[in-house]
Amino acid sequence: MHLNVVENLTGEECASKIFEMSGARFEPEVAAQLWAKIEQHKWLLSERLARDVGARTACIDFLENMDQAMAEYLSYQRKDLLNEMGAQTFGRDIWDTISDSQPPKKLVNRRIILPLTMEDLSRKHGVSPPRTIIFFGPPGTGKTHFVKAIAGVLSWWYIEIAPSMLMEDGADRLGANLRRTMEKVRQLDEVVIFIDEFDELAHCRDEADRLDKCITNEFLKQVPLFKNESKRLLLVCATNYIRHLDPALLRPGRFDCIIPVGGLSADERKTILEFYLSRINVGQIDADRLVAETARFTPADIQYLFEQVAQSAFEREVAANKDYRVNTQDFVRAMAGMRPSLTDEIIEEFEKDSLTFSRV
Ligand SMILES: Nc1ncnc2c1ncn2[C@@H]1O[C@H](COP(=O)(O)OP(=O)(O)O)[C@@H](O)[C@H]1O
Ligand SMILES: [Mg+2]
Repeated sequence: MHLNVVENLTGEECASKIFEMSGARFEPEVAAQLWAKIEQHKWLLSERLARDVGARTACIDFLENMDQAMAEYLSYQRKDLLNEMGAQTFGRDIWDTISDSQPPKKLVNRRIILPLTMEDLSRKHGVSPPRTIIFFGPPGTGKTHFVKAIAGVLSWWYIEIAPSMLMEDGADRLGANLRRTMEKVRQLDEVVIFIDEFDELAHCRDEADRLDKCITNEFLKQVPLFKNESKRLLLVCATNYIRHLDPALLRPGRFDCIIPVGGLSADERKTILEFYLSRINVGQIDADRLVAETARFTPADIQYLFEQVAQSAFEREVAANKDYRVNTQDFVRAMAGMRPSLTDEIIEEFEKDSLTFSRV
């Protein structure tokens, strides 16, 4: 489907075409904009009536039903844009598999999900939920997972903008691409926009060269424009290296919340372990032992552990040709060959960063 078929006509030409077809007169600038919409309306009308509709019919129908036709035009344009930007949807199951006790979940629920889902009550109390947030923390702690969970629980679109996408046409187009992308995003509604590896885009200007400065500046310009939109939009940026970000971005007024995502408590590990245990062929498992022995594991480590255990159970069953149920020893064996991602040093750094940078 392609909707943006716009002939190269001048404003005057558009005005005279519209006048010829409908008898209505418009200023050239207005006519040029209307003509693009009439072209699309012609396409939409032809689709709906399952026959080719002429430009004259489309023009008259558009002008007679302007409000409805404009709404249809916007809705189709939005669909096209969502498609182009690779928008995805998620169910609320991701949210449900995160332990309620995880601090980022509690916070997001309190500050974002509840105010957005209880609009009357939040209006009554003058609460306006955050529009721009940062998640920071060591790799594999579930930052991306959180963003998908938020989109899922809100039933909003999820659009991921990878810094590499913005750099596609060469480094000198980066600022322009960022601006264009944000302009598109602002036309949408009910969208979670996620910029992963945010530090790649917005590192500290003191250390950066001229080009990076231009990106950070562009970003600083885009954030207020984004926050001024009345649409339901949430911008989430994630980084493993919060201290590499330009301090200008971290000042109040830019990001509403700066949220640490760190290691998991025993209770939180238990929730994730139960989730993954429910998806494999389990026998007798000492769940408390697993919880105790995964103290330095990130969610990514836990996922990897289960992949190892599942694969080996599968192979055993293939070899022996009889039901194989995973037991505690299978986990102990797999863990012996793994090094958990979180070390004392990483945790200490993260705790320092949490004190310095968190704003919740
Ligand atoms: N609460 C959770 N329950 C189940 N799996 C999780 C959870 N949090 C993260 N994961 C899984 O762990 C892996 C790493 O998480 P991810 O969100 O990619 O980490 P990050 O973005 O912080 O590097 C992902 O495959 C994700 O599905
Ligand atoms: Mg990630």
